[in-house]
Amino acid sequence: MDIESDLYGNALVDFHQGNYSEDITVLSTTMEDDVMPLPYLFRSYDQMPALEKKALLLSTGTVLDVGAGAGSHSLYLESNGLTITALDQSPGAITVLKERLKSPDSKIVLESIWEHKEKYDTILLLMNGTGIFEKLSRATSSLENLKNLLNENGQILIDSSDLRFLYEDEEDGGLWVDPSKEYYGEVTFSLQYKGIESASFDWLYMDFELLKTHAQKAGLKADLVQKGEHYDYLARLTKI
Ligand SMILES: C[S@@+](CC[C@H](N)C(=O)[O-])C[C@H]1O[C@@H](n2cnc3c(N)ncnc32)[C@H](O)[C@@H]1O
Repeated sequence: MDIESDLYGNALVDFHQGNYSEDITVLSTTMEDDVMPLPYLFRSYDQMPALEKKALLLSTGTVLDVGAGAGSHSLYLESNGLTITALDQSPGAITVLKERLKSPDSKIVLESIWEHKEKYDTILLLMNGTGIFEKLSRATSSLENLKNLLNENGQILIDSSDLRFLYEDEEDGGLWVDPSKEYYGEVTFSLQYKGIESASFDWLYMDFELLKTHAQKAGLKADLVQKGEHYDYLARLTKI
């Protein structure tokens, strides 16, 4: 596996095989450099933030874990008897998922979500689930595509954050706006690991009201399930 094209997957494989030497550094044009600790990507239920625990408790029936990564959420759900499909476009993540998931009923799929065609009762998108929409201009069509993967009475459980705190003027409450962006939640990231930097990629954060508007355009009703500790939230989307 070529490390440059799947830096994140390589880091997951290293950690899983006991070769943990460093964390992933997350670089972006809009935020300060950040660290993505590899152990966090292998978190147990007890180590998860409250919003993720809530999403797992609300999951029912057949579940699609979109961008499953190292499979923390899938692992918990399969051990609670749910039928899981763990999907990720990273070959390294798939290698790890194949070793971590144990139930013979669990399916592991190496694919972009935008290619996927099966239907589910619950679609789970966690750790800033709106990220895979990439740009605000793609939000409605992405939500329509997800809606097409829902069984009748199915639900999408998705988390995100309102990034306005990054741009808000503490004194007058005004927003500093980057004119090159359609919306302040549009971020361009790249990852760094073992001295190699990945290609940059777009990752979208959406405040709840904006998600609600785009969900409605896609024929989905959005309910705010729970707010997190820092501008983050969990939403539940169902067909109108
Ligand atoms: C921030 S990580 C979250 C991983 C995991 N859900 C967790 O909470 O630990 C995002 C994941 O989404 C995957 N991903 C990004 N875009 C995707 C796409 N279009 N289709 C499928 N997987 C995607 C990445 O490979 C990565 O594993």
